[in-house]
Amino acid sequence: MAKILVTGGCGFIGSHTVDRLIEEKNQVIVIDNLSTGFIENLNKKAIFYNVDIQEKEKLSDIFKNYSFDYVFHFAGQINVRKGEKDPIFDINVNVIGIVNLLEELKKNPPKKIIFSSTGGVMYGLTDIFPTPESVEPFPICIYGISKLTCEKLLYAYSKNYGINFVSLRYGNVYGPRQNYLSEAGVISIFISRVIEGKECIIFGDGEQTRDFIYIEDVVDANILFMENDINGIFNIGTGIETSVNRVFDIINENIGKDCKKVYRKAKKGELKRSCISIEKVKRYTGWSPKYKIEEGIKKTIEWFLNKN
Ligand SMILES: NC(=O)c1ccc[n+]([C@@H]2O[C@H](COP(=O)([O-])OP(=O)(O)OC[C@H]3O[C@@H](n4cnc5c(N)ncnc54)[C@H](O)[C@@H]3O)[C@@H](O)[C@H]2O)c1
Repeated sequence: MAKILVTGGCGFIGSHTVDRLIEEKNQVIVIDNLSTGFIENLNKKAIFYNVDIQEKEKLSDIFKNYSFDYVFHFAGQINVRKGEKDPIFDINVNVIGIVNLLEELKKNPPKKIIFSSTGGVMYGLTDIFPTPESVEPFPICIYGISKLTCEKLLYAYSKNYGINFVSLRYGNVYGPRQNYLSEAGVISIFISRVIEGKECIIFGDGEQTRDFIYIEDVVDANILFMENDINGIFNIGTGIETSVNRVFDIINENIGKDCKKVYRKAKKGELKRSCISIEKVKRYTGWSPKYKIEEGIKKTIEWFLNKN
């Protein structure tokens, strides 16, 4: 049984990862300030601290009680648009937050940190698709810049203090428990609106593409990288581009309510295309996603319907 810290364990990706870790008989300690996560998401067998990762002293107190084998770091400001509106907040949560964590971990390094980075915005205005990790990251949004800074910090701490890390650059993750009230997660937002018979708002012409990956595939990758000895940076996506219009159509067809799309002016700085290559992770680990977008959306709709 390993002792594992999961920051952001009440959120979407974090809570699914916690469930799997507990299923596999590990002891899980969660730190989350419930800013975008929900206590209902949290596995009852996890030990929970309602603490903000920006609060250095409170973090220190928690670390006095434990020696962690592994750390998953999911806590963060996740919303690209919010990052543009309030860059200081994004940097404080994402960058200062990880520094606080690393300062504690360097005293007693775990075997590995698994960091949740972004493949969606990391490569900025590249014209290489699907984009491999070898393309130099040049994000054009604060959120992407803060995630890139986190990766650089992890690299420096790994060299100076021997903390092994893997940074998983996820595509657009979707599935049960994603917060449809936030601006992140177009699939959850559309599903909840179509179920309620409301129109869906699309910014731009809807032909912008994303690399949508189902949560179970992401959790598989998270656990795999905890268990293996591979460090470094890996894209975790599908390598397949799907447009926002297509996402709407799949959802609408499945729910059968014939809802309308409403087009609004494109948001400034939003990428036209985003799709990441998964050749590296396949080569190193054999991992590849199991779910096609049609299947993943179907499962997500089922969850929403059961919840309602
Ligand atoms: N969902 C995606 O498509 C996606 C894609 C790439 C990367 N990521 C990254 O994965 C991680 C998890 O994302 P998610 O989609 O599960 O989002 P989420 O909002 O559901 O989860 C984030 C969790 O962190 C907590 N949190 C936020 N700020 C905190 C703070 N200051 N202190 C303590 N806890 C805090 C929230 O309450 C929430 O439970 C994030 O770091 C995000 O940037 C997500």
